[in-house]
Amino acid sequence: MASEKIDYVFKVVLIGDSAVGKSQILARFARNDFSLDSKATIGVEFQTRTLVIHHKSVKAQIWDTAGQERYRAVTSAYYRGAVGAMLVYDITKRQTFDHIPRWLEELRSHADKNIVIILIGNKSDLEDQRSVPTEDAKEFAQKEGLFFLETSALEATNIEAAFMTVLTEIF
Ligand code: GTP
Ligand code: MG
Repeated sequence: MASEKIDYVFKVVLIGDSAVGKSQILARFARNDFSLDSKATIGVEFQTRTLVIHHKSVKAQIWDTAGQERYRAVTSAYYRGAVGAMLVYDITKRQTFDHIPRWLEELRSHADKNIVIILIGNKSDLEDQRSVPTEDAKEFAQKEGLFFLETSALEATNIEAAFMTVLTEIF
């Protein structure tokens, strides 16, 4: 609809190691889509979805970049203007959780100090391969003042809730 009225545009960035599921989290949120043979992201992509929050029309502009260093976007440009961030690890890959403090450090040194951050443990459908206990992540999130949820882009579990947590808090 050309006459669609937007009250707010919120930029939210996705960060975390390669293959944790950032692009599929975005695909699930923006298009209710999911692919098992997702290709590694090169550079930056973004998708938008407009939602109504507290009777206002909010355009969520979600940015996604490569977890792999060599494919990453220019860091400062990526974070510029972001009001929300989703820090993603894979619950089946301990290393992706161990790298979270590094991502948080990068985020805090480049983003606005009031940015709303949620820690996301993705691939909760792979419970039998879990290597990061929920309690460890919950404790870390509490210590760092982050929101926290476990999600599955595959099963569409908590994806909506994760974005709504960030967007309503920004609001
Ligand atoms: P980079 O672009 O390299 O940084 O990776 P990424 O974090 O964007 O990962 P991507 O979304 O491409 O997903 C990597 C792989 O994990 C793909 O094979 C996805 O299908 C798979 N994947 C993503 N989310 C889930 C999930 O919730 N459950 C399961 N089982 N697999 C998932
Ligand atoms: Mg990607």
